[in-house]
Amino acid sequence: MRWLPDKLGLVNHGAFMLQINEVRPDDTFIVSYPKSGNTWVRFILAQILSGQTRQLSFNEVEDIVPDVYRSKDAIDKMPSPRFIKTHDVLFRYYPKTIYVVRDYRDVLVSFYHYKLALKEYEGDFSSFIRSADVREPFGSWKDHVSKALAASKEEHPSLILFRYEDIKSDFEKTVREMTLFCGIQSINTEELKEITRFDKLRKVENESGSEFLTRSKQNFFREGQSGVWQSYFGQSDLDYLYSDHELVTLMNQFGYFTG
Ligand code: A3P
Repeated sequence: MRWLPDKLGLVNHGAFMLQINEVRPDDTFIVSYPKSGNTWVRFILAQILSGQTRQLSFNEVEDIVPDVYRSKDAIDKMPSPRFIKTHDVLFRYYPKTIYVVRDYRDVLVSFYHYKLALKEYEGDFSSFIRSADVREPFGSWKDHVSKALAASKEEHPSLILFRYEDIKSDFEKTVREMTLFCGIQSINTEELKEITRFDKLRKVENESGSEFLTRSKQNFFREGQSGVWQSYFGQSDLDYLYSDHELVTLMNQFGYFTG
């Protein structure tokens, strides 16, 4: 890990670190809170950038839209323009950002299963949502998402925001907006939708593997549904979550209504 260099007039602010050596003016960062659909967007972009209608594997996607925490050295050597996945909200250092947000309640369910699968947590769901140290490796959802929202509302925003739920319900519109924002040409959208469908990605994972599958013996592509939180949260869990009024306001702004 390196301190942010003084490239593009960037300065080292002490509190922030970037994993790569330099940011280039034509870099695009794919940013989300963990478990919000980042990998799905990486698969979509990788298929478009490769021009392939053949299904790409996890490894191939890692080569085309790499994860800043996994492929740091490769990223430094990649030709431009680069598309890089990260969870760090260093928006003002990113020339362009695609940000993905998902209903926090579903994020918590997804993250809970992720931690269980990796044996990094073994309590019940109620305890998990009350364990900030386990569930907040990148700070709180509220801080993450509110920073993205603020960046998306700037006068000339360099950040475009997508809801996971909208990628599901209006794939074509998402791809249109994403490719326009990135200045790239999509492959056939119908085909793209088919090859990046949840069950297809899960099949690819089973056939060609993933780091998560190797480590946990479980699929990274776990369920891919919206609204599953309803069968996980008891009333006391909801009361706990909703006691944070700023969080409630933010969730409601995204249409994640708290009733
Ligand atoms: P679930 O655990 O709810 O299934 P991230 O990549 O940001 O870590 O997000 C992972 C979540 O996105 C997982 O949620 C995963 O299944 C879901 N996901 C990945 N690809 C998807 C797809 N094609 N359609 C729907 N959900 C998808």
